[in-house]
Amino acid sequence: MIWDMLSIKDLSVSVENREILNNISCNFDLGKNYCILWKNGSGKSSLAMTLMGHPKYNVTGWEIVLDWKDLLKLSPDKRAKLWIFLAFQNIPEIPWVKLFEFLKWVYDNAVKTTTFMEFKKIIEPLLDDLQLSKDFLWRDLNVWFSWWERRKLEILQMKLLNPKYIILDEIDSGLDVDAFKVVAEMLKALSTDRNSFIIITHIFTILEYINIDETLVLEKWKVVEQWWWEIARRIKENWFKK
Ligand SMILES: Nc1ncnc2c1ncn2[C@@H]1O[C@H](COP(=O)(O)OP(=O)(O)OP(=O)(O)O)[C@@H](O)[C@H]1O
Ligand SMILES: [Mg+2]
Repeated sequence: MIWDMLSIKDLSVSVENREILNNISCNFDLGKNYCILWKNGSGKSSLAMTLMGHPKYNVTGWEIVLDWKDLLKLSPDKRAKLWIFLAFQNIPEIPWVKLFEFLKWVYDNAVKTTTFMEFKKIIEPLLDDLQLSKDFLWRDLNVWFSWWERRKLEILQMKLLNPKYIILDEIDSGLDVDAFKVVAEMLKALSTDRNSFIIITHIFTILEYINIDETLVLEKWKVVEQWWWEIARRIKENWFKK
């Protein structure tokens, strides 16, 4: 075990007494990017939720360790402070919570306490980068947001917090071709050797923007190929059934 590694060992997860993930092991090295591919309902989102600490996902197997810390003992907010970030596949809408208040609360807890004016100065330039208006900050969190706005909000959070392990659960879904390209370019610009993208996708186009070091296929949770496009080709040829 070394530093700067998110490590999953013999992990089994169940939901409502049904086992979803069975005995999976893998390592995510900081600085490398990963994609996770496998069919609908195979447990990709469940893995993402488990990494983030969603209480509904019951870990029956062994461990998840980040830099020697046992993640399973930590609540989702503490995991976020270790710089794990999840962009949800299905994004929850939270009425009555203003986006500004939410982002300030997250920033104050994860980075440093700010006053209203201090935080305004931090967040507003980031809005400009994403071509979002200042009014956007005073909307209820994700309520009636278009998919485009939801994805921009996730990128806004990534820019604000600069997380290390960034799990993108089908971030490409819900976007039209033009919006997708802008999102993919923004993600590409955020990728450095001090962070890792863990990209869950069925639409391989996003992988053309971000350099992928390892491809994980969930079925046996193995690094099956170095080259995701080879797997994409095989999946197109009905590889799942073989
Ligand atoms: N919170 C939950 N409550 C009940 N069942 C769940 C829950 N989360 C996942 N499951 C079940 O676990 C299985 C795996 O679901 P999961 O969403 O993790 O798959 P996935 O690989 O992300 O699928 P997709 O590619 O369609 O997004 C499914 O049968 C699903 O119904
Ligand atoms: Mg999913």
